Amino acid sequence: MSEYVHVDKLELPAASTIAPHIDSLYNFMWWTSILSFGLVIGAAVYWIIKYRRTKQGHVTAYISENHTMEAVWTIIPIIFLAIIFIWGWTDYVKLRTTDADALEINIIGKQWMWETNYQNGKTEINALHVPRGSQVKLIMTSTDVLHSFFIPAFRVKQDVVPGMFTTVAFTATQVGEFQVFCAEYCGTSHSKMLAKVTVMEPEDYKRWTEGMPLRTASGERVTPNTPLAQTGEKLFQRKNCYSCHSTDGGVQAKVGPTLKGIFGKEVTLNEGKTAKVDENYLRESMMDPQAKMVAGFQGVMPTFRGLLKDDEVNALIAYIKSLK
Ligand code: CUA
Repeated sequence: MSEYVHVDKLELPAASTIAPHIDSLYNFMWWTSILSFGLVIGAAVYWIIKYRRTKQGHVTAYISENHTMEAVWTIIPIIFLAIIFIWGWTDYVKLRTTDADALEINIIGKQWMWETNYQNGKTEINALHVPRGSQVKLIMTSTDVLHSFFIPAFRVKQDVVPGMFTTVAFTATQVGEFQVFCAEYCGTSHSKMLAKVTVMEPEDYKRWTEGMPLRTASGERVTPNTPLAQTGEKLFQRKNCYSCHSTDGGVQAKVGPTLKGIFGKEVTLNEGKTAKVDENYLRESMMDPQAKMVAGFQGVMPTFRGLLKDDEVNALIAYIKSLK
């Protein structure tokens, strides 16, 4: 990959399902701004001329208040702001809502590269491959500082935060290569923290994930990998997780809750509160086990902070998800 990104076209393709929606909102805000700029400056210029001091020394009446005008210039902007807020919120929710069958891909940001972990165990650096027409859910974290994963052609941008997972969803609509930038200043080589998203036809993508040679002779060959969930299962053994947590629903001396079928469920905690088992909950349970104690269990689990790398946490979560 070249060190610099050449922008040869000022117009960006709108290459995801959300992109046209984001563009419409952008255009609405742009024309609203132009209109209000024209009205405000136009009115100011008109009145400056109309009420200018003339040679006769005519003085204009001193106006202290006008309730009708105040109401008009308060209510009209509020209506426009409300439209922008509701419109923006609707699109924001779309970017963060995923179907159950969304393709999940893990992204790890680090100074200064993007690591991509697929569920089949394949890992790439500064590259992301996705199929056209399928919803993709990126589950992202950082090993060091704040980064931001930005795909302009998809109108998708999401902060990548150390110590937690953030997600973003998109459905690509065009086959091709698209630029990824880091959009959060993260140190010396921030501007070189670049990656490419390759969107492939679904059948090409299937071949690619299976490690088959592509129909297009791009020379890409992939060796079969261990699926992420399988790596997680090995880690589960190696880190002795199984000595306290069963994976088949059994109660194993009641040291820790079983992990069978817990992903996506609500659990009841000691203080009577509930928590949803998602990626962030599982990571917290590994790093800070006493933060949320499941009702009926003692806080005996040690922390795995510093003992598990981000890709190992991802593998363990993939394994726990697979325990249906
Ligand atoms: Cu990573 Cu800027």
